[in-house]
Amino acid sequence: MALTDQQYFTLRRLQSLTGVLPVGVFLLEHWLTNAFALGGAAAYNEKVDFLRSLPYLFLLEIFGIFVPIAFHAALGCWIVWEAKFNNRALPLRQNALFTLQRVTGVLLLFFIPYHVLTTRFAEWFGGSTHDLFALMQDKLQNPLTFALYVAGVLAASFHFGNGLWGFAIHWGLLTSKAAQRRWSLAALLIALAFGLTGINSLLAFGPLGGLSPLRLQPAAATGGAPHAAAPAPSGQGATR
Ligand code: HEM
Repeated sequence: MALTDQQYFTLRRLQSLTGVLPVGVFLLEHWLTNAFALGGAAAYNEKVDFLRSLPYLFLLEIFGIFVPIAFHAALGCWIVWEAKFNNRALPLRQNALFTLQRVTGVLLLFFIPYHVLTTRFAEWFGGSTHDLFALMQDKLQNPLTFALYVAGVLAASFHFGNGLWGFAIHWGLLTSKAAQRRWSLAALLIALAFGLTGINSLLAFGPLGGLSPLRLQPAAATGGAPHAAAPAPSGQGATR
C-alpha cells in the first residue's frame, strides 16, 4: 500500500514527536531515577518503590512508554532502511551525525529489550526484583555486561541529544542557519551531559576495580553506603 505525501509527512512528524514526547521525557526521568544510586541502595530503592507505587502504573507503562517506543522504533527501522548514507553534497560532519543517529537507533533496538527484560521482568527468568539496586550491582560486576551498559547509555545519550536537533529541524523550529548551528552544538552538549551522568550512575552501583563515581553530595547517612558486596536526516539540508 503506497502512502500519500500527506500520510508520509504525518508519520515522519509523529516519529519525530514520539522521540521527544513521551520517550525523551521518560529517558530524562529514567536518568534522574538512576542518579539516586549515587545516594546508595536505600535511596535508590526508595525511588524505585515510589515509581512502582504510582496509580495506573500498568497503563502508564503500556501507553506512556511501550506503545510510543514501539511506534518510534518501528518507523525508525523503516527510516533506516530507506536512508541514503554518505551524501556527497554534505560535509563529513553532517554525514557522520546522520549515520550515527541511525546506528545508535538500531543499537537501542537490541539494548532496550535486553535491559527491560533483565530488570523490570527479571522474575520471568527466575531473578528477583525486590532489590533492584542489588540486581544491577550483581549484573554490573561482570565487565562484559558493564561494557554493554556503557555502550547502551552512550547510544541512548547520543541518539536523544542529537535527536533534539533533528526534532527542531523537522518541526520547523529553527529557520536561520546561525540558530541551526548553535542548536547543533547545544544538542551535542546535551548528549555529552547525558553520557557522562549516565556512566556516573553506572559507577554508583560499585562495579569495576575500585572505580568510583563523582558524588556532588555525600551519600545518605542511613542506608547510604553501597552494598557490602560492592568493591567499592533527514534534516540533511539543514546547517550544522
Ligand atoms: C531511548 C529510546 C529513544 C529515544 C529517546 C529516541 C529519541 C529520538 C529523537 C528525539 C529523535 C529525533 C527526531 C527527529 O529527527 O525529528 C529520534 C530520531 C530517530 N530515531 Fe529514535 N529514539 C529512541 C529509540 C529509537 C529506536 C529503538 C530506534 C530504532 C531504529 C530509533 C530510530 C530513530 C531514527 C531512524 C531517527 C531519525 C529520524 C529522522 O532523522 O527523520 N530510535 N529518536
